[in-house]
Amino acid sequence: MRLRPEIAALTAYSQGRSPSPDGFKLSSNENPYPALPGVLEAAAAHVEINRYPDGAAVALRTRLADRYGVEFSEVIVGAGSSSLLQQLFLAAAGRGDEIVYAWRSFEAYPGFVTITGATSAHVPLTDALEHDLPALAAAVTERTRVVVVCSPNNPTGPAVSADAFEAFMRAVPAEVLVVLDEAYQEFVTDPLAVDGEKLIGEYPNLVITRTFSKAYGLAGLRVGYAIGPARLLAAARATAIPFAVTELGFAAALASLDRKPLLDERVAEIVVRRDRLRGELIEQGWAVPSAQGNFVWLPTGEHTTAAADAFFDADIAVRPFADEGIRISIGEEESIERILEVSATLHRQR
Ligand SMILES: Cc1ncc(COP(=O)(O)O)c(C=O)c1O
Repeated sequence: MRLRPEIAALTAYSQGRSPSPDGFKLSSNENPYPALPGVLEAAAAHVEINRYPDGAAVALRTRLADRYGVEFSEVIVGAGSSSLLQQLFLAAAGRGDEIVYAWRSFEAYPGFVTITGATSAHVPLTDALEHDLPALAAAVTERTRVVVVCSPNNPTGPAVSADAFEAFMRAVPAEVLVVLDEAYQEFVTDPLAVDGEKLIGEYPNLVITRTFSKAYGLAGLRVGYAIGPARLLAAARATAIPFAVTELGFAAALASLDRKPLLDERVAEIVVRRDRLRGELIEQGWAVPSAQGNFVWLPTGEHTTAAADAFFDADIAVRPFADEGIRISIGEEESIERILEVSATLHRQR
């Protein structure tokens, strides 16, 4: 039985650890709030689970097209933005091609690239753990088919600046697809940060991906979307697994869009909590980079595994990256004091 060797060597995406039922799960950048009031009811009311969902996702795509001022053909939806990233990679790259992205960044990128048959080219983050956009542009070769820019960057936190991103877009050849992964865009407060929405229609090779998983709190229902030129999106749609987004997902996403003011309040609370946590960690002596998503980065270096265990002993699940650092998602208010107790002890022990 022969397998593709690169796939046989690939491990399935590994999910963040879970704490005890009384602990805090801060390992997957999830939203700590339950569904917005009325969302589950609205979703359940629509569902006929004996039928396939609408494969063309007409209602949600129409709504998103309206919201972003684009044509229906310029927005597609997928089973989370993960699915759309993979579809876009498959549409543009194959064996012998290269996909370029910053590293460290979203852990799923390397696997998505391998699945296409292409290879990954990693461009190191700067010392401030930010994207090095000039270096990313310089890494583009004849073989490059896609460049991915993750803003804010998971797991380190900084967003790329609008100016640097536009200079980057001018430097990248127009036949190379640029994917701006904005899974955490709703949490961005840096006024200088890029906002993909403002760039819609500006570049023939730019696609932005966003998700209902993070700010909208629908991670469990798997709904994401991409906005960009119709021809690129049609190709990405062609690589999709049919019916990957369910009617429950469509209905919950639509109902959540109807409740945007309440959503904005929740996002604002998470942002306040994030900034307070980052500020206090800095006061403890940690060099925490700019945090523009719903998470902060604790640079624990060679002590990372032991530090993650210390958090786990306090019933807090975090996401460690061995020898680099720990990503802590912004969760419940009550988690903050407990995080700070552990981080203070860790800092004293350094
Ligand atoms: C940077 C980034 N992009 C995309 C995703 C995919 O999220 P989803 O598939 O839930 O939309 C994540 C999830 O953690 C992420 O961190």
